[in-house]
Amino acid sequence: MNTRFLDVLNGRPVDRTPIWVMRQAGRYLPEYRAVRAKHSFLDMVYTPEVAVEVTLQPIDIFGFDAAIIFSDILVIPEAMGMHVQFLEGRGPVFDAPIRDFRAIDRLGSISATDKLDPIYEAVRLARTELEGKVPLIGFAGAPWTLAAYMIEGSGSKTFQHARAALYTHPDAMHALLDRLTREIIIYLKNKIAAGAQAIQIFDSWAGQLTPQQFRTFSLPYLKKISEAISATGTPVILFARNAAHSLDELSQAGAAALGIDWQTEMAPCCDLIKNRVAVQGNLDPLALFATPGEIRAQVGQVLENVGSSQRHIFNLGHGILPQTPVASVRALVDAVHELSPLYHREKTGVTL
Ligand code: CP3
Repeated sequence: MNTRFLDVLNGRPVDRTPIWVMRQAGRYLPEYRAVRAKHSFLDMVYTPEVAVEVTLQPIDIFGFDAAIIFSDILVIPEAMGMHVQFLEGRGPVFDAPIRDFRAIDRLGSISATDKLDPIYEAVRLARTELEGKVPLIGFAGAPWTLAAYMIEGSGSKTFQHARAALYTHPDAMHALLDRLTREIIIYLKNKIAAGAQAIQIFDSWAGQLTPQQFRTFSLPYLKKISEAISATGTPVILFARNAAHSLDELSQAGAAALGIDWQTEMAPCCDLIKNRVAVQGNLDPLALFATPGEIRAQVGQVLENVGSSQRHIFNLGHGILPQTPVASVRALVDAVHELSPLYHREKTGVTL
């Protein structure tokens, strides 16, 4: 059994750095595309056998140290009664984005439907099929990131509707963020009951907020979720993208690890965090378009930036891109497995 990923989250020494990558179950894999050709994206998400099949693909192919259940962050707004479509080349699009804030009162609770049951079933099935080989990560979107999609209606460069609402309707925004926080906690506790062994929260659009707004409209809710989930004994990883301005606060928000994006310098983060929590990241996803030799050098640089005193989970600094060559992912995993033992020798007493 490979427990390195959970060991780092729980502060135990490891012999080498564990690695998984965000969006590892995805379109860069021919095996994923073959399954996707037969199903719509949402059919895959809501059909446990299919979701589990693509969850396990990257584990079997590359030997990552953790699996992440195949799903999406937008299943929560869906289960609350909003309708979202995933359009080829455009990503998620909501039929009726929230523009009139009275619509918030009409949102349902995920507890009132069985819409998410197939996701919990997928978690159960994935645990059975993994047979303890590697731990299983469950995840959710952060309240701010979900609210941004629900108001904007799709991805956006500026999220102007969602951002304007922070100025024009701050009370309604807090009401929405509070509602989402409660739903996310219910959802994650159900995923943990089904077998998820760690939780990652994706605040993908944290960087759309000013530092002050992040501390008002995102951080308190992230803290509430982390504390509620950590209290169950399950470690939480907070990935607040482009929010390095609040790293010190984030490291005291009840999480076991912080995800570091590729635009943020790792070494000062580690100095600031002082090993209070583990760090996860932060290779630039575009580095995977280089030669295997260059990928290895870039991996070495990330390990060097983290140093040997900091607890570390290797990952990209954001999701892997669909065009990424499979051979690069193999080179990445091999480089982490081969180079990282050097950084753990002192802690484990192992000499190479
Ligand atoms: O990490 C994993 O492998 C697990 C699966 C996973 C998906 N989405 C599958 C997916 C995870 C963890 C997510 C999270 C997610 N979803 C985030 C946060 C992570 C991040 O990238 O910042 C966000 C913002 C979303 C919303 C979302 N879903 C977008 C913007 C898109 C379209 C963009 C894209 O990559 O196509 C999706 C669709 C989506 N989610 C796909 C996958 C594999 C592609 C769907 C397809 O196969 O056509």
